[in-house]
Amino acid sequence: MTVTFKLNGREVAVEPRPDESLLETLRERCGVTSLKDGCSPQGQCGCCLALVGGKAVVTCASKTAKAEGKEIVTLDGIPEEDRALLADSFVAAAGLQCGFCIPGIALRARHLVDKNPDPSRAEIAKAIDVHLCRCTGYTKIIDAVSLYAEARRGGARPQPGTSGRVGDRLARYSGRELALGTRDYVADMTRDGMLHGAVRLSDHARAKVVRIDTTAAAAHPGVVAVATAADVPGKRWYGLIHLDWPGFVAEGEEVRCVGDFIAAVAAVDEPTARTAAALIEVEYDALEPVTDPRAALADGCHQVNPAYPNELSHTVIRRGDVDAALADSAHVVSGTWKTQRIEHLFLEPECALAEPTESGVRLYTQGQGIFDDRRQCAAFLGIPEDDLDVVLVPNGGAFGGKEDMSIQPHASLLCQMTGKPVRIRLTREQSIRVHPKRHPIEMEYTVGCDADGRLTAVKAYMVGDTGAYASVGAKVLERAAGHGCGPYRVTNVAIDAIAAATNNPPCGAMRGFGANQAHFAIGACMDMLAEKVGIDGWEMRWRNAVEVGDTFASGQVFEKSVGLKKSLLAVKDAYYAAVQAGKAVGIGCGIKNTGIGNGAVEWGKARLVVEADGTISLYNGYTEMGQGLLTVLIQCAVEATGLDAALFRPKVDSTFALGCGQTTGSRATLFGGRAVKSAAEKLAAALASGKTLAELADEVFAADIKIDDTTAPGQKAEKVKTHTAFGFATQVVIAGEDGRIERVIAAHDVGRAVNPDLCEGQIQGAVHMGLGFALTEELPCENGWPVTYKLREIGVLRARDMPEVEVVLVEEHEPEGPYGAKGVGEIGLVPTAAAVAGALFAHDGVRRFQLPMKGSPAARAMSVGRLKPRR
Ligand code: FES
Ligand code: FES
Repeated sequence: MTVTFKLNGREVAVEPRPDESLLETLRERCGVTSLKDGCSPQGQCGCCLALVGGKAVVTCASKTAKAEGKEIVTLDGIPEEDRALLADSFVAAAGLQCGFCIPGIALRARHLVDKNPDPSRAEIAKAIDVHLCRCTGYTKIIDAVSLYAEARRGGARPQPGTSGRVGDRLARYSGRELALGTRDYVADMTRDGMLHGAVRLSDHARAKVVRIDTTAAAAHPGVVAVATAADVPGKRWYGLIHLDWPGFVAEGEEVRCVGDFIAAVAAVDEPTARTAAALIEVEYDALEPVTDPRAALADGCHQVNPAYPNELSHTVIRRGDVDAALADSAHVVSGTWKTQRIEHLFLEPECALAEPTESGVRLYTQGQGIFDDRRQCAAFLGIPEDDLDVVLVPNGGAFGGKEDMSIQPHASLLCQMTGKPVRIRLTREQSIRVHPKRHPIEMEYTVGCDADGRLTAVKAYMVGDTGAYASVGAKVLERAAGHGCGPYRVTNVAIDAIAAATNNPPCGAMRGFGANQAHFAIGACMDMLAEKVGIDGWEMRWRNAVEVGDTFASGQVFEKSVGLKKSLLAVKDAYYAAVQAGKAVGIGCGIKNTGIGNGAVEWGKARLVVEADGTISLYNGYTEMGQGLLTVLIQCAVEATGLDAALFRPKVDSTFALGCGQTTGSRATLFGGRAVKSAAEKLAAALASGKTLAELADEVFAADIKIDDTTAPGQKAEKVKTHTAFGFATQVVIAGEDGRIERVIAAHDVGRAVNPDLCEGQIQGAVHMGLGFALTEELPCENGWPVTYKLREIGVLRARDMPEVEVVLVEEHEPEGPYGAKGVGEIGLVPTAAAVAGALFAHDGVRRFQLPMKGSPAARAMSVGRLKPRR
């Protein structure tokens, strides 16, 4: 069947499959990659929006046949002047982070403004309801659409910032290209002769694999190669900490979760590869999975992973005499708090492209640590690391979910087997099955205070479900324990935190990394104690807020840069004004480490290469994933050299040995920024000696910063220093008469806001994620299977669900950070859930011990998070 339509003014005739979506036709047959695929065929993210016959249509949910005779317009087809205005509006407003959702929203903005030249913020929020953004929290997106509409009405043209000095609002690097969808993500990249891969995942949460028969798949027309465990020439098991995760499960072994890989197929196109992957016959002996972490820890339970017992880790913190202190306390509260499994739901599903090189393979990855990807993939392929080039393609969101390997090894192996470029892209469902989640943690707390509300003791016992593979789960529970007292002064502490292996999907890094869960519990205890003492939430926190000289739960004495009290003061007037106005008000304070710490050796590495054309390549080892790292690093270089920001070209690849581990722990700005600053100071010295950039062509200015002065939990050391730096925050959540969340005020000590726009954006986006964590988001599993893959059911908030979020930046200079900066990527959602719970208690007097707080009026008012009954 031939389908003809007009695409951006040009006549097109295609021969689609009967089941082919319009998105697939436009992307794969017509090469229109400004349309992104975030969820096809769900039609629930808006990334694939096009105008079809004048109507805004999510093309993944529409069959190509329906486009017959229609006129289709994508962002690429609108006049250049309008494209430039849209791009400038989004960049000037800092209305994009990873950028994956933005081309769809930009087209929607134009469609809206064509019909309504002066839309209100509420009208814009309503118009973009189809669109999901996981990064921004929507505030700056709505700012961008407002700017665009104003300029269209003849108002001022938005002006993206060009000064790269520290503290200025430099426009995001590659922002215009991201806004217009012209900067490729991995799935947008093609190569001559490229094959398409597909993977076959496990059909069980736990089973013995008896036989894998690839005969039918291999014989399917268009299939070039099928890979299983037997084809792996190198080390089949990998992992960030334990080598416990098989790239493929072999015959005779167990599958341990529904995201395990059985086989991978390379074929001439993606549909053929997916069809062939489904033809692989797998015979299993089904086994009973363990899905309850307490059952997994009980005697007699099967061992989930051969690499370690089901108690993967047990972190112990002891200071003082907790039982005696509790016995002497004027007030004691206790309870059990439970948090849920959360899906990262980054908008860009995992994708990798591997191509042959003269010496081996080049891998294009979206991972959070390209040198970890290289190390693990080279071992998998059985080749020296030098024979594997790795290039970062800045990703469409990660939030911790792209730390572990997904399909990088499979794309690399199929490339090695076929000698051809191979690209593999996971579907949204596969993505949810494969990558690690946020840990559900059950936390029993007992907390005491004296008659004035000063904390005396914290006792906590935590059990986290870490799923089938270790990932960094032990570290997450370690971090939950370390943050178990929140940012409060406590002398007597006894915390146990256990990571338990189960046959559920693995859990690992996700923004906040255990701190969010612990803060939900300790924040509630603070409120319960305040009630007993007879003081309000702000006063309770003020009396216990840590300052320089106080001790963190881990035993580290804070020696510098503690901006918690400043953040409390920043919200004080708004807090009491709202209370006096009769609003239901909640408050939460937060602390989050910058840097992994806990005894890990960490690095910041940078190379500045002066190129012959006068530009400067800025290499570093950390990943851009929407947080704005590359822009911030440019600003560190500009501040040191005084050169124009436009001269710097950030690069993340394996040209130099810049391995720094994962982009995690809110550390890239601090460690990467320090390295860039140091390298840039060397370049500045060379320029100051009278040399020009032209004379410095081909010279390399290098800096490697090593951080090895932190101590492991329980380590006997003269001075305990578990972390390099800490961020602090206070958030106030205000609910209306009906219990809906109306406003959030987020005051954050960021050390120094290198780029205030990006800094605010990080906090707004994190508050959005924190409100979802508090109210609507969850990924429940039954028998090891996620019960849903639907975006709206998973519960990430839409624009119209978001309350007003006001960010207050507090700058308490961090001496170990570049220009005083500290990490801001995670802390934005650390205090949020407790503050929401406090506001809801103020509204209806109900203490809520479990997340998400779905039964609350605030959650019921949201448009997402309703799990439909299963068949
Ligand atoms: S890809 Fe079409 S709506 Fe998500
Ligand atoms: S900027 Fe919207 S999903 Fe990343």
